[in-house]
Amino acid sequence: MFGEVQIAPSLLSADFANLERAVRLIEQGSPEWLHVDVMDGHFVPNLTIGPPVIKSLNKLTNIPLDVHLMISNPAEQLDWYLDAGADLITVHVECANGAVQAASAAGASPSIEQVEDPGKLLALIARIHAAGRQAGISLNPDTPARAVFPFVDAVELILVMSVHPGFGGQSFIASAPDKVAQLVAHARTLGVSPLIEVDGGINAITAPLVTAQGADLLVAGNAIFNAPDPLVALEQIRRAVAHG
Ligand code: DX5
Ligand code: ZN
Repeated sequence: MFGEVQIAPSLLSADFANLERAVRLIEQGSPEWLHVDVMDGHFVPNLTIGPPVIKSLNKLTNIPLDVHLMISNPAEQLDWYLDAGADLITVHVECANGAVQAASAAGASPSIEQVEDPGKLLALIARIHAAGRQAGISLNPDTPARAVFPFVDAVELILVMSVHPGFGGQSFIASAPDKVAQLVAHARTLGVSPLIEVDGGINAITAPLVTAQGADLLVAGNAIFNAPDPLVALEQIRRAVAHG
């Protein structure tokens, strides 16, 4: 049977002018992670949080920071996020082949069929590990599960995007549970069990669809921070995926 499901509230849907208030509130729900979405205006058509804000968040809270890098050139900028105090750093596999097409519109995102030279991303993952942090690999909705197979036994976490990245509050893409199942099955054949995280459109209705396939960690932004009571919303997601 699968283990206890972890929750990572995404600050993307919090009030950026009141991040401390959002963090203090959500701390009361004891989430396992705080999900921080970093966007560079190129990999995704939006700009959000960068290293200085992550540094401040790291001082503010003891909740581990799950930093999701939606940036085109993670190799060049990785040290910024290590220095800022990210506990877990996830990079996108779509960056692996060098050139990443700029994403210019919401609801679309880059995809790749396969990685030409896994060595480059493996080296990046090794840099994250050398700094004593956990590493994740993420894939966009149109990238097939097999594109991340070369990294499954090298990372602590695989992040399945269940929306095209860039914005909170989008609808869950129905192919995500099957992708989770494929990744869990492949990890099993390798004898490893990285955390499977799902990000995008997660709420109390969609959460069980992915945990039923083996997802361990759920990101939720809109469903938590735009709820009348974020703590109640967090609890509703937990209850929706509780075993037994
Ligand atoms: C989207 C981000 C998500 C976002 C999810 O690009 O990666 O982490 O915050 O937001 P919801 O839960 O609102 O879909
Ligand atoms: Zn995210």
